[in-house]
Amino acid sequence: MTLKKTGFIIYGITVTLLLSAVLGYNLLSGDQSYFLAGDATHGHYQIELACNSCHQTPFATEDDMQEACENCHQQELKRVNDSHPKKKFTDPRNAEMLEMLDARFCVSCHKEHKPEITRQYGVTIADDFCFHCHEEVTEERPSHADFKFDTCATSGCHNYHDNSMLYEKFLMRNMKQADVKKKPKLPKRNSMRRWQKKNPEVDPLQFHDHDGDKLFGKDAIEAHQWAKSQHAQAAVNCSGCHQISKEQSSEVPHLKQAIDTCRSCHEKQFERFTLGKHGMRIASGLPAMSPVDARQPMKPQLPHSQVTCQSCHNPHTLDMQQAAVESCLSCHQDQHSVNYKQSSHYQLWLNEVAGDGAPGTGVSCASCHMPRIKKGKKVTVEHNQNRYLEPNTKMLKPVCMKCHGLEFSVAALSDEVLIETNFNSKPDKSHPTFELIKKRLQQRLQQQSN
Ligand code: HEC
Ligand code: HEC
Ligand code: HEC
Ligand code: HEC
Ligand code: HEC
Ligand code: HEC
Ligand code: HEC
Ligand code: HEC
Ligand code: HEC
Ligand code: HEC
Repeated sequence: MTLKKTGFIIYGITVTLLLSAVLGYNLLSGDQSYFLAGDATHGHYQIELACNSCHQTPFATEDDMQEACENCHQQELKRVNDSHPKKKFTDPRNAEMLEMLDARFCVSCHKEHKPEITRQYGVTIADDFCFHCHEEVTEERPSHADFKFDTCATSGCHNYHDNSMLYEKFLMRNMKQADVKKKPKLPKRNSMRRWQKKNPEVDPLQFHDHDGDKLFGKDAIEAHQWAKSQHAQAAVNCSGCHQISKEQSSEVPHLKQAIDTCRSCHEKQFERFTLGKHGMRIASGLPAMSPVDARQPMKPQLPHSQVTCQSCHNPHTLDMQQAAVESCLSCHQDQHSVNYKQSSHYQLWLNEVAGDGAPGTGVSCASCHMPRIKKGKKVTVEHNQNRYLEPNTKMLKPVCMKCHGLEFSVAALSDEVLIETNFNSKPDKSHPTFELIKKRLQQRLQQQSN
């Protein structure tokens, strides 16, 4: 064995030992930030101190890391019918492709703690990487001959994972729609109606069992904001959330752990809430997210205010209009959010709130970020406000296309200036995708007439 080789092996062993020591120390000790390798990505920085959520153990293998990524992301990738799932690359016929880029593993394209090479969506490889496997496209498709490989994904034509709304048939089918549809309408929420059907014995206009009477007196309870809320109608009394006992003389009932209280009746909302930026820290066992820890611009806050259910829902009034706009603006202060009130969407929202516009014609922050999802007859509010955020073409079907044509929507979503102004004017309508589709349709028509 040459000296050089021995040196290399010793170097290798030292690095391995050091790494295990670093990880071991970090995973076992309290101060996990001490050896943190570099700022975590936009997607993960909130949970960067929960090292174990990705490095399951100090000696985790490649496969363990892969399993961690899949645990948290597989469901969404499946839902959108990921165009490049692992199984495409375990197929021996595609083995050759993996020599350049091992696409079986998430970390081939998404490293962590490497801010200097991290691009949008946590991607850490050069943006012309499609070339490794799709070299033939520019040859086989004359329409693509002049395109550079770094434009496949960046110009809003294709995504690597989610092409569920970016394929030719869908684009063709939905092309010639009006910019603004005649009857723009979002589905109506109906959870209370469904609840009443399941609980026919509860009379919605009758208060039940005033457990608060003993402490506050009957009149005070009936005058309480709560009395007008859906909770009162659904027989969720003071004691549904507060521990009330005769011995307790205090005016303010003791609050059980608030978010757990809400969760006990609204498991679905809780679960969705913990999948996005508002609640993801709770899912990793960390204290709830606080606006002071955010990377995005936030209003100056009380240092300890945290993002929980009450951040948007006043627990007594359950004012849903407040939850959909004003609550958001009590924290968010980036240009896009602040500009919302100059948009025609906000005018539509004001009309709806005033009763001049039909229900479902207004466009609030929640209409775009927490849309109502209809499945069969059931309508539920998506409480993971990241679900349709990135890439923003995810918003097409569940949001924009409820009211706009496809071409108009794609053009608006690919216009960064419009996003910043919160859609205060019409988009320029010439998105390259549709130029190609139109050419293709013309060719087909010509072929048919020949
Ligand atoms: C969201 C997932 C995630 C979290 C949380 C996370 N890491 Fe990592 N870490 C990664 C990935 C991915 C890599 C790169 C693995 C690869 O390249 O194969 C990595 C690599 C590393 C490396 C190797 C050095 C390097 O820069 O490549 C160290 C050391 C490390 N992490 C320490 C930590 C510590 C300490 C914590 C907690 C404070 C932590 N990590 C939290 C995902 C994570
Ligand atoms: C404990 C759960 C968890 C684990 C483990 C995890 N992620 Fe994430 N990841 C999230 C959440 C939550 C978000 C932010 C919400 C979103 O974008 O959907 C996110 C965001 C992302 C993003 C989008 C980044 C951006 O800037 O928008 C990518 C890419 C990603 N994760 C890849 C990975 C990869 C690769 C791994 C494995 C190394 C991994 N994740 C491990 C929960 C997790
Ligand atoms: C060959 C490169 C590559 C591999 C491998 C890869 N990704 Fe991605 N990923 C991308 C690119 C590029 C984007 C940017 C958005 C797009 O084009 O879909 C992205 C975006 C994402 C996003 C945010 C956008 C979205 O659609 O939700 C998540 C989350 C994500 N990847 C998770 C994963 C996970 C988990 C794995 C492993 C199972 C993985 N990725 C493997 C290239 C890759
Ligand atoms: C590691 C190799 C590899 C890389 C890198 C890669 N692809 Fe693919 N891609 C494939 C394979 C394999 C298929 C499946 C082909 C088939 O089924 O005929 C595919 C299919 C597709 C499809 C068709 C999807 C479908 O559902 O039918 C699109 C669109 C696509 N890729 C776009 C891209 C874009 C855009 C990039 C870069 C952001 C990219 N690919 C990077 C290997 C790759
Ligand atoms: C759906 C759960 C829920 C119900 C039902 C409920 N409360 Fe509350 N209440 C809360 C929460 C959560 C807080 C804490 C608010 C905060 O800290 O932001 C609170 C706070 C309070 C306070 C402290 C002062 C205030 O208004 O912020 C009083 C007093 C109170 N509740 C009385 C009542 C009475 C009386 C009833 C029955 C008529 C009732 N609550 C019903 C959840 C509930
Ligand atoms: C004892 C059960 C129970 C508890 C505890 C509870 N809720 Fe409810 N809540 C209900 C029921 C029942 C409804 C009406 C039907 C539905 O929406 O599921 C409802 C409705 C709601 C609505 C919809 C109001 C509307 O106008 O459509 C919101 C928002 C809400 N609850 C928030 C909360 C929050 C926040 C907490 C915690 C502070 C909480 N709930 C605690 C049972 C509960
Ligand atoms: C109590 C403060 C608070 C309230 C209220 C609030 N947010 Fe947030 N929001 C945050 C914080 C903190 C983050 C994480 C920001 C970061 O990581 O930089 C966040 C993240 C987001 C994101 C994800 C941004 C990204 O780049 O991934 C969206 C979208 C969002 N909020 C929309 C809303 C909407 C819509 C409302 C109202 C229905 C709302 N928020 C109410 C504090 C709040
Ligand atoms: C018509 C739909 C629409 C409305 C209304 C809307 N947004 Fe957005 N929002 C978007 C789109 C699209 C993006 C960009 C997503 C992307 O491309 O990354 C976005 C991005 C964001 C982000 C991430 C910002 C960033 O810099 O990454 C936050 C936070 C946010 N919106 C909050 C809000 C709040 C708060 C309101 C209401 C005051 C609001 N939005 C109103 C569609 C909307
Ligand atoms: C970022 C703000 C925000 C947070 C945080 C939030 N909600 Fe909501 N929630 C809303 C908005 C906005 C709506 C109504 C949207 C609409 O009218 O379409 C809503 C609707 C609801 C509804 C009615 C559901 C339905 O399907 O009709 C319930 C119940 C609810 N929220 C419970 C919760 C619980 C429990 C939590 C905490 C785990 C929570 N929310 C956290 C903003 C929020
Ligand atoms: C509930 C219906 C509804 C939804 C959902 C909706 N819009 Fe709109 N939007 C409208 C209506 C109606 C107008 C026309 C307003 C007017 O002319 O006064 C409009 C106007 C616009 C305009 C032009 C604004 C101007 O001042 O000329 C843009 C750009 C736009 N919407 C983009 C979007 C995008 C992108 C989405 C999805 C993220 C979206 N909208 C979701 C109803 C909606």
